[in-house]
Amino acid sequence: MGIKVTWFGHAATMVATPMIKLLIDPFFSGNDKASCSPEEIEADVIAVTHGHADHVGDTVAIAKRTGAMVISNFEIINYFQAQGLENVHPLHIGGGRSFEWGRIKLTQAHHGSALPDGSYGGVAAGLLLSFGGTKIYHAGDTGLFSDMQLIGDENVDLAMLPIGDNFTMGPDDAVKAVKLLDPRYVIPMHYDTFDVIQQDPREFAVMVEKETNAKVQLLEPGENFSLV
Ligand code: NI
Ligand code: MN
Repeated sequence: MGIKVTWFGHAATMVATPMIKLLIDPFFSGNDKASCSPEEIEADVIAVTHGHADHVGDTVAIAKRTGAMVISNFEIINYFQAQGLENVHPLHIGGGRSFEWGRIKLTQAHHGSALPDGSYGGVAAGLLLSFGGTKIYHAGDTGLFSDMQLIGDENVDLAMLPIGDNFTMGPDDAVKAVKLLDPRYVIPMHYDTFDVIQQDPREFAVMVEKETNAKVQLLEPGENFSLV
């Protein structure tokens, strides 16, 4: 199945298959590194990894305009429903759901999840997406944890991993994450958006390709990668 993965900067990502446009963590407004504005984005489903403003982003505006179904943890879905979203589906850590377009499962993440208005956003998650036999792991914001090896047991084709340090894993821990996950491809994310998460992704790519079998796809915001 042809799957096109577009990275918009930070954690914002579009996964497009012949059946669906799935948008993850749509942080466009207020993100100087974002490659486009939220008004240009089309989506069928929006998945939100955790409650922080740089991940909830423009979810409500995009969902209201496009009618996209929003998927997140139970607490974040409550928050979205209070803002008038009706096409929603709550999940929680370890739980997944199969839709006609594929499967989405919430995986653990070591991170916070307070919502922009200060309300309780449950716990942060990562996403394991399955489309036919192709699997994409979007780690959200997280530190390194050894149970990534269990996610790796699922035969991950593409892992999207934060490398920014300060709020999430830095490059050294992200290399360890690649070893635990053993994916075919890696796209680094969550770097350069803010001063405290400046990184050189090329240095990360060199380390990964020296120490693991994975191939690193370095994208500029707005660029895409076709996963075959
Ligand atoms: Ni966060
Ligand atoms: Mn973040």
